[in-house]
Amino acid sequence: MSGHASVSTSRPRRRWLRILAYLGSSLLLCAAGFVAFVQVAGDPTFEFPPTGIRASTDPAVIARGENLFHGAMHCTACHAASWERVVRDKPMGMVEPIGGQEWIVPPLGTMWSSNLSSDQVHGIGARSDEHLAMILKHGVGEDGKLRIFMSMAVGMAPDEDIQAVISYLRTLPASDHEVPDDELNFGGRAMLAFGIFGPKSLPTPAFVPPADEPSIERGEYLANGPAMCSTCHSPYDFLGGMKQSGPLFSGCFAAEPGKENDNFEYCAPNLTPDPKYGRIVNWTEEDFLRRLAAGFVDSNSVMPWGNYDMMSDADKRSVFRYLNSLPPTARDSGPPMRAAGSWEPQD
Ligand code: HEC
Ligand code: HEC
Repeated sequence: MSGHASVSTSRPRRRWLRILAYLGSSLLLCAAGFVAFVQVAGDPTFEFPPTGIRASTDPAVIARGENLFHGAMHCTACHAASWERVVRDKPMGMVEPIGGQEWIVPPLGTMWSSNLSSDQVHGIGARSDEHLAMILKHGVGEDGKLRIFMSMAVGMAPDEDIQAVISYLRTLPASDHEVPDDELNFGGRAMLAFGIFGPKSLPTPAFVPPADEPSIERGEYLANGPAMCSTCHSPYDFLGGMKQSGPLFSGCFAAEPGKENDNFEYCAPNLTPDPKYGRIVNWTEEDFLRRLAAGFVDSNSVMPWGNYDMMSDADKRSVFRYLNSLPPTARDSGPPMRAAGSWEPQD
């Protein structure tokens, strides 16, 4: 009887201990499994059919590529050796894309922009046209490896514009400026393993060629494609595989820390013609051109002002007309420049 009683009181305790031990060991197993999984899956290889895009030596194609490179696609904003140069110098012809700008993103790792000069060792001179085209089309190189920044922060361009850009790249002089390879930390590899980052996923717009006469169609093409105004100026969740989470051009999703001083944060404002929240609703087309020409008002802003001013007059007017053709959206994304953490979204 007493034996039975002692068993009946200690059995549940032992059972709990066993359950705890089991849970503990499975957690350990899970953690080990997680680490092993990230080790294996954290450096994924992606496969795409060949693009078949090849550089052209046609001067007209190269000239269009030069304008895309320095202007709408703002490659130099990241591939210049420093942000200071991007802010200080007019990009066209002056900012050399020799790379080395550094981004320290604690949950991810450290990234450096590549040297895009034709140097065979430190630049892209030894890279194939196919490799360059793959990176611009998918954010993935010929080696199947993801270039995180290139997959997220470069506009969607159709083959015609990709060809123009790589044709211009081939004309750049060599520079032996040495730049380190990206260093992803465990968090970065885990995010890759779980597909939080991946190849480019936004739709590629059909090519609308430049024209002397401005058009809403060309503006829509630039703003959502190569110039990529949309992903900063609309709620896009960069960590959600670039998911749009609110109306187009209704303002930023989350503010970004200032380029040179992270006591401040920057939120790309609502550019729809909304009477209350539209930043440019009362601007004329000439005001818009003057604002682009003025460039950086605050060098801490993340918007590549100098680059966009390299777009042609007709392209700038096209973008303005497109923005004004959007449905007005009464979404408040707060002051565009503000003290870090000083504004909480209302919705
Ligand atoms: C938002 C910043 C940013 C912009 C804009 C940008 N790049 Fe990059 N680029 C990077 C970074 C950082 C890397 C290093 C790999 C990575 O993290 O994506 C890189 C890597 C590359 C590479 C890969 C070199 C290699 O073989 O690994 C090429 C080619 C390239 N960029 C070309 C361009 C071109 C052309 C443009 C304009 C159409 C452009 N980039 C715009 C930041 C940028
Ligand atoms: C990398 C993110 C980013 C991209 C890309 C971007 N912007 Fe911005 N934009 C901002 C931020 C942040 C601000 C607020 C700070 C400032 O005015 O510099 C801003 C402000 C503006 C303003 C208001 C300026 C003022 O004086 O009030 C206009 C107009 C504008 N952007 C237009 C555009 C257009 C057009 C494009 C594409 C051709 C574009 N932006 C692309 C981030 C971006």
